[in-house]
Amino acid sequence: MTATQPPQPQPDPQSDPQQSDPQQSDPQQSEFGSQPPSQPGSQAQPETQSQSESESQSESGSQARSGSRSEGGLGSLVGGGAPNGAGYRSFVLGEFTFSRDDYFVYVGWPTGSHVASADAFLKALQRDVAWEFFYGIVNFDGVIGTVNHYGTVDLFAGRYNDAWRKAELDHLQNFPTPQIRATFAAMLDDWTNHGFDPFASPDETGSAFGPKHGNNTPAVTRRRVTATRMVGLHGDEPLRSDQTGHRVNRQFTDVAQDEPLVEAAAGFEDQVHAFNLFGYLSRSDVTWNPSVVSVCRHSLYCPTTEEYILPIIHGNDRVEWFLQLSDTIYWDVEDRDSGAVRSKVTMHPGDVAAMPADIRHQGYAPKRAMLLVWENADPDLPHLIATGQLPTNPIDI
Ligand code: PHB
Ligand code: FE
Repeated sequence: MTATQPPQPQPDPQSDPQQSDPQQSDPQQSEFGSQPPSQPGSQAQPETQSQSESESQSESGSQARSGSRSEGGLGSLVGGGAPNGAGYRSFVLGEFTFSRDDYFVYVGWPTGSHVASADAFLKALQRDVAWEFFYGIVNFDGVIGTVNHYGTVDLFAGRYNDAWRKAELDHLQNFPTPQIRATFAAMLDDWTNHGFDPFASPDETGSAFGPKHGNNTPAVTRRRVTATRMVGLHGDEPLRSDQTGHRVNRQFTDVAQDEPLVEAAAGFEDQVHAFNLFGYLSRSDVTWNPSVVSVCRHSLYCPTTEEYILPIIHGNDRVEWFLQLSDTIYWDVEDRDSGAVRSKVTMHPGDVAAMPADIRHQGYAPKRAMLLVWENADPDLPHLIATGQLPTNPIDI
């Protein structure tokens, strides 16, 4: 990510912003279902970002790089053009343009442009869509990303990159969540070729590259696991088995598959429950995709299986706890706003880490690993942290 030298102009998106898209799908159930979107207009943005936020939400648009707001019904939200020479449609979202060819994705905005590898971009896009823009910031890479305000979403370029900021070429625009979601979902579906699964590990999927060939709609719209109480409870998310199509992953063949015996007293059958979490995770067919397996008010247990590299760099708006359940993950931890390196964290089985609310992080898993991500979905947290009423770290040592 060279930031000081913006890339060369990109292919013109041949887009027609008025064209509606039949594929604007029902957004998936959110992976972190009980939380966003809940706070339209909330002050999820940290104080240090207030200038940018007021730019994005100001109606005056006094600066060229201030974002404007797009309005309109869902039918006109997805700006998808005719297929280009490589067979891919281009998209317009406010002042941003998106197009792809055999290898690369090109993003443009009034003051700059950016090139990203198509496979990395699609893996990040997949997660942003499936997670309903997640908590806080989803950086696709060092330049492009989104900020979730739980009801609206900022799309930014260079906003959290020192060089782009200093050159004053960064750009940010705020959109109602349904608008950006519909465009991102249509782009993800159009740009994902047959045989490529953006959620799979590199070893377990085909290639993202080449001219457009087919699609993988079942993969990019797969239903997310978001338990209401706990996986396996009557009426809640089911357990996984060969019968449900969830085979034990090639790297977890040593994981025991027995289930605990629960002997509940009469009348408590629906309230006492347990399941084999290791067995459950050994049957996950996706990577870097936390599932909600248990819920206690705002406390969400979101375990996940990881392999290769987390396709986003996540900027926190609250503390997240990590408990390493198996194997090893290396984390790069950086300042959320500037990207300055803060620490390298190596987590082995049994290790616990509290990731502060003012960092961004990206994980590397050399072998498929099990990680428990513990989220606090309290919608008041971003504001309380951004205004200094709560600290950015949960404990002082
Ligand atoms: C995170 O950003 O905290 C995160 C995201 C996806 C994962 C694990 C951790 O699979
Ligand atoms: Fe995170």
